[in-house]
Amino acid sequence: MIPIIDLKAQYASLKPEIDETIARVIASGTYILGPEVEGLEKEIAAYAGTRYAVGLNSGTDALLLALKAYGIGPGDEVITTAFSFIATAEVIAFLGAKPVFVDINKEDFNINVDLIEARITPQTKAIIPVHLYGQPAEMDRIMALARTHKLKVIEDCAQALGAEYKGKRVGSIGDIGCISFFPTKNLGAYGDGGMIVTNDEKAFAALKKLHVHGAGEKYVHELVGVNSRLDSLHAAVLRVKLKSLDTWIDRRNEIARLYNQQFAGLPLVLPIPKKEVRHVYNQFTIATDQRNELQKYLKEKQIGTAIHYPISLPLQQAFSYLGYSQSDCPAAAKAAATVLSIPAYPELTTSQIETVISSIKSFISS
Ligand SMILES: Cc1ncc(COP(=O)(O)O)c(C=O)c1O
Repeated sequence: MIPIIDLKAQYASLKPEIDETIARVIASGTYILGPEVEGLEKEIAAYAGTRYAVGLNSGTDALLLALKAYGIGPGDEVITTAFSFIATAEVIAFLGAKPVFVDINKEDFNINVDLIEARITPQTKAIIPVHLYGQPAEMDRIMALARTHKLKVIEDCAQALGAEYKGKRVGSIGDIGCISFFPTKNLGAYGDGGMIVTNDEKAFAALKKLHVHGAGEKYVHELVGVNSRLDSLHAAVLRVKLKSLDTWIDRRNEIARLYNQQFAGLPLVLPIPKKEVRHVYNQFTIATDQRNELQKYLKEKQIGTAIHYPISLPLQQAFSYLGYSQSDCPAAAKAAATVLSIPAYPELTTSQIETVISSIKSFISS
């Protein structure tokens, strides 16, 4: 069996240091916030190229609190992509604001920037671009639109920590960057975790309070906030793993290059990285009209795959009240029917990679 992801293989490669770290944190008696969280915040801010970072419970909370820090709520509109994980849009609606969906590019599945301006209204407060699968969205044009219309840009970097757009790390380009440490992310915890990175000092000051019940000082609550703290254990483990992140990203890129070379010329949409980016391939996702048949064939060959995502955001039942139909975001609807992620994690062996390649080629030639 070649699974779509093998978290046990990654653990095995770091076991002595991880085990020692977990034992040390448990023995320290500090489990909430503390030096490991502060250390990771400094290291991730440096890695992403921002001045500030705040550790949180999840990537979803990072998006939620980013919007909250900018006062977004009922009566406001937030523009985002029609094709992402639900969290990207759910947080907008959860705060009582209106998600406004924009269709995607057919080649890279990121937001189609040509379609954004037509959706801006006097109520629009922010844009949330997603760097889907680890490939940055077109940030130059998004930032230019945002500056013209005085909108905040909240980058959803959940799948893209370490990705670069024109030499800049994602998360440092918009006003706030939102990171997820969900276990399957390139930098994954052993549970939920997330972080915000930003250069915006005012937003940082608000976020430092919002994530600890709105308190600046203990038991003095200036804002209505939430409990969204990164656990010390997760932070300590992530600090160990962070040292390997760039090596893992390089290996993902090597595997992606090989797949892209071997699949060139086949009737597949391939995730070819744009010239101006560093793609981090959190997912290696192809597209084909025979997606369901290919997935079934690979399953028979004991190769794990995943569909990220089978339903576009505007067509999710949770957003039916917004009244979108199949024809509103056709590229996103098509992506939902055709995309397939295949194994591309750093621990894959050469023979596993060869099996994936030969199986896909044999499906297509049959
Ligand atoms: C694009 C995207 N946004 C947001 C999230 C939410 O992150 P989390 O699962 O850490 O809440 C995820 C991942 O799960 C994601 O892939």
